[in-house]
Amino acid sequence: MLEKFVDRLPIMPVIQPSTIKDQIPFYEVTMKESMQKLHRDLPPTRVWGYNGVFPGPTFHVFRNQPVHVLWKSELPEKHFLPIDTTVHGADHGAPEVRTVVHLHGGVTPESSDGYPEAWFTPGFQQVGKYFTHRVYEYPNGQAATNLWYHDHAMGITRLNIYAGLTGMYIVHDKEELSLPLPKGEYDIPLIIQDRSFQDDGSLYYPSEPTPPVEGVDPSVLPDFFGKTNLVNGMVWPYLEVEPRKYRFRILNGANARFYGLSLSYCVPFIQIGTDQGLLKHPVSVRNLLLAPAERADVVIDFRSSAGEEIVMTNDAASPFPQGKLPNPKTTGIVMKFRVKKHLSSPDHSRVPNYLSTYHVMNEKESNNERNLSLGMRPDQYGREIHLLNNDLWSDPITEKPRLGDTEIWSFVNVSNATHPIHLHLVKFQILDRQPFDRDMYEKEGKIVTTGPRVKPALNEQGWKDTVRANPKEITRIIMTFTPYAGLFVWHCHILEHEDYEMMRPYEVVVKRGQARA
Ligand code: C2O
Ligand code: CU
Ligand code: CU
Repeated sequence: MLEKFVDRLPIMPVIQPSTIKDQIPFYEVTMKESMQKLHRDLPPTRVWGYNGVFPGPTFHVFRNQPVHVLWKSELPEKHFLPIDTTVHGADHGAPEVRTVVHLHGGVTPESSDGYPEAWFTPGFQQVGKYFTHRVYEYPNGQAATNLWYHDHAMGITRLNIYAGLTGMYIVHDKEELSLPLPKGEYDIPLIIQDRSFQDDGSLYYPSEPTPPVEGVDPSVLPDFFGKTNLVNGMVWPYLEVEPRKYRFRILNGANARFYGLSLSYCVPFIQIGTDQGLLKHPVSVRNLLLAPAERADVVIDFRSSAGEEIVMTNDAASPFPQGKLPNPKTTGIVMKFRVKKHLSSPDHSRVPNYLSTYHVMNEKESNNERNLSLGMRPDQYGREIHLLNNDLWSDPITEKPRLGDTEIWSFVNVSNATHPIHLHLVKFQILDRQPFDRDMYEKEGKIVTTGPRVKPALNEQGWKDTVRANPKEITRIIMTFTPYAGLFVWHCHILEHEDYEMMRPYEVVVKRGQARA
């Protein structure tokens, strides 16, 4: 077993533009294979990284200052992880190594959003049918928050992300910069992911589920959970901190694992932001639950912990919520903070009581409501196939909100798992969650609720782009489809589900006589 807390927490390099053209910063990022040390006692691991590092470099951008990024691939022609060619998008002789970059949470026009079928191969030798252009344009017309970029290639997203294709993208604005929050070296992104390794240091991702499925190998899995936790690409690292406040921008970047994070001695997380920006007021949280793709902006106050060691632990079951609890010696451990450094300067940072203001959406603002089921059925091999509203990716588009319209989407979860549902383009607010009678729904197709509507937790009340839709509950979200018309996707962010049909295109359509953007 690998020893814990022997490697220092890496901090991803900050990427700089290669030039500035017409006042627009221009970045170049090359996806490359490299060998990277992920733990002191592991031989170097083959990873795929943006600019050859895992996780990729961190972007810092400013609200309303657009940037352009040329994403290109110099990855090998062969994948090193097992591709299931019965999965849509990875079939019919599709090139093994395809990538397309999506800025998760970005308000991005369709041509730069990284549509799963807009993939390209190394050197742009081949491109998918939706490929539009090489240079992506990010307008950044959105509030300060923590976004992330990751691969989104149809049918192999789980493998490309597992190989390492993830990175942080931080949007700043005046409001956020004016707050007296911890800054500079006291403001650190944390990307939490799980991975398994072979003895030679290589990443382990099984080619078949247990028990195996007759007739398909490699086969997609219902989900995959690694045996170790990594933060910023290092297995169980430690960070030396001063007895002062730190800001951590936490991302759950795992394929399928949920994290229920706590700190030793009941030290709380002071949550200041959600997926899509600052909360109105800080919320003190002792157990911070994050599904894949969810983010939490938090402050941890180490002032009264001088000399102590504070471990960040995880207690979320996998699959969530009904699966196995993590092993308290392995997957139940995330990282350690050693409050051993001396205070290098007085800590003038504060977490103000008022962080931000935003419009709280009311269900009366909605022009349209949709009930969308989250379910599954067996495929021809007896494997689980997860579906949104019983439709396959290739079925005709059914969600066509009009540009500028506000809609309520109600996710009716008839499965046993919590699905983190994510929509591209828009931010939303969670209205409520309500239990319903699943048997009745399955037998008669009728929704009979069995309890009251419950408001989301305080730390879920800001703007979100990914929501946990729990089993046997109806989760309602509300959002306005703006500012771009076009073709986008919505999906479950458990990557094994997303790759195997739990993803659908949706289209923001233009009303007669309305401008496109
Ligand atoms: Cu984070 Cu469609 O993705
Ligand atoms: Cu996204
Ligand atoms: Cu799912």
